[in-house]
Amino acid sequence: MSLLPIIEVPDPILKRPTDRVEQYDDDLRRLLDDMLETMYDAPGIGLAGPQVGVSRRLAVIDISEEKNEPVRLVNPSIVWRSDTIVQAEEGCLSLPGQYADIRRPDAVHVCYLDEYGREQRIEADGLLARCLQHEIDHLDGILFTDHISSLKRNMVMRKLAKRRKLNA
Ligand code: NI
Repeated sequence: MSLLPIIEVPDPILKRPTDRVEQYDDDLRRLLDDMLETMYDAPGIGLAGPQVGVSRRLAVIDISEEKNEPVRLVNPSIVWRSDTIVQAEEGCLSLPGQYADIRRPDAVHVCYLDEYGREQRIEADGLLARCLQHEIDHLDGILFTDHISSLKRNMVMRKLAKRRKLNA
């Protein structure tokens, strides 16, 4: 396995809707394993294809404390959303150090294929539901900053620029 470079804003690949995965082969499984390793190393709880420069419909998630419950999502789609909306803070490895309160449905059902092309379904609420929505947004070219006002978005981008200057 190997660590992949994480793509950050404003790289245009992050704003581009991804292509569906058609091939379920060793290359796909290796890519998903590399994405998991990259996510654990970051550290993060979710990572989507475009964030490692791959404009394809795939993502990985692990919200467990022990980092031993990896989920490999290929061609995922949300098939049900709860009416209940909840607000919670989100961050993103493509906007390092930045956070914002985002309103999303509290629960979702997601259909996807696993790394062998087998159909799977997750019924999730709480953090897992939030993480699934955040990662599936990435596959449609949507960042968490697209869910907040332009005023708040400008504030996040200014803070990110400041952070980069400090780290340079
Ligand atoms: Ni993200």
